[in-house]
Amino acid sequence: ETVEWEAASYDMGGHDTYMHKEISEQPDAVDRVLRGRIDDRFSTVHLGGLNLDPREARGIRRVKILGCGTSYHAGMIGASLIEGMARIPADAEPASEFRYRNPVVDPDTLYIAVSQSGETYDVLAAVQELKRKGARVLGVVNVVGSAIAREADGGVYVHAGPEVCVVSTKCFTNTVVAFALLAVHLGRIRDLSVTDGKRIIEGLRRLPAQIEEILKGEEDIKALAAQYADAKSMMFIGRVRGYPVALEASLKLKEISYIHAEAYPASELKHGPLALIEPAMPTVAIVPDDDLLEKNRAALEEIKARSGRILAVAHREQEKADHTIIVPKNEDELDPILMGIPLQLLAYHTALALGRDIDKPRNLAKSVTVE
Ligand code: G6P
Repeated sequence: ETVEWEAASYDMGGHDTYMHKEISEQPDAVDRVLRGRIDDRFSTVHLGGLNLDPREARGIRRVKILGCGTSYHAGMIGASLIEGMARIPADAEPASEFRYRNPVVDPDTLYIAVSQSGETYDVLAAVQELKRKGARVLGVVNVVGSAIAREADGGVYVHAGPEVCVVSTKCFTNTVVAFALLAVHLGRIRDLSVTDGKRIIEGLRRLPAQIEEILKGEEDIKALAAQYADAKSMMFIGRVRGYPVALEASLKLKEISYIHAEAYPASELKHGPLALIEPAMPTVAIVPDDDLLEKNRAALEEIKARSGRILAVAHREQEKADHTIIVPKNEDELDPILMGIPLQLLAYHTALALGRDIDKPRNLAKSVTVE
């Protein structure tokens, strides 16, 4: 399976930075990762390079996802998609941590290595260690033919196209979509119903247009960024599906704006971080319209009671928040994909307002091929 990268896509195409170009490309990128993979007849997904037959897929007892940086965060969402749809216990771990703790390698576990470049040393070394111990390893990789793609037993290409900016945006989104495809595939071999398979597939098809809609709100997000750019530190909170979104948004902000940021599960606020809340420490809250909405609203109240400023990302206006960025609703499972996108723009415009070198942040490299 290959994808042609148009030579033209390496120029900035009228954008001031690669990051802006790559954020803008997301509707097309998502379209590409979906293309040719959906099977409406059986409400499932075909993934040509997986090398996993249905009997093997049914035998998987656990899924362990490994990656670094943004790919690790995409893997966290991937784990919740797989656990939710295929009902296989799944979790994600930074590849380096996994590698150094002498993990129990179990033959009934499916290991998945996630990497944009396919060259990150810690991920590659984890894959090689797993292979050496006889494990089955799949890759969820962007760069075709890269070291991790070659080393893996099979996998899913992410088809985001070339990503030049050091920080990852479109590849993050596409990686999560690739995990949603894998989750439907595994789910439909196991116990995901036709109705649910169909519901998720239809949700996936709505994504490109919904991303387009979010991108149209850029001017408003830019105005918000101007109001938050003076923060010395920012808190990001979410619950369950929203927590990896908070982690990734806080990483993006610190990478390119150099504003200190941390992410917490909203429920953990009262166990420590509430002590930090004051007007100088704004909070970005992920507040989807799902079964945890009331719980998330309670967290907003706790912050407001301590005079914290709140920017909510939600499906409808949040009265407790000072500002709300409203994103279109999709299926609950797919909401994290959309909720991350305005926060890419928030990080971008914050960094721009502060005059940062957005495509090449200090001290960071696009891919880390050494230990
Ligand atoms: C570097 C980059 C990050 C990236 C991470 C993993 O640290 O600066 O943006 O998320 O590597 O890279 P990968 O290519 O494996 O996804």
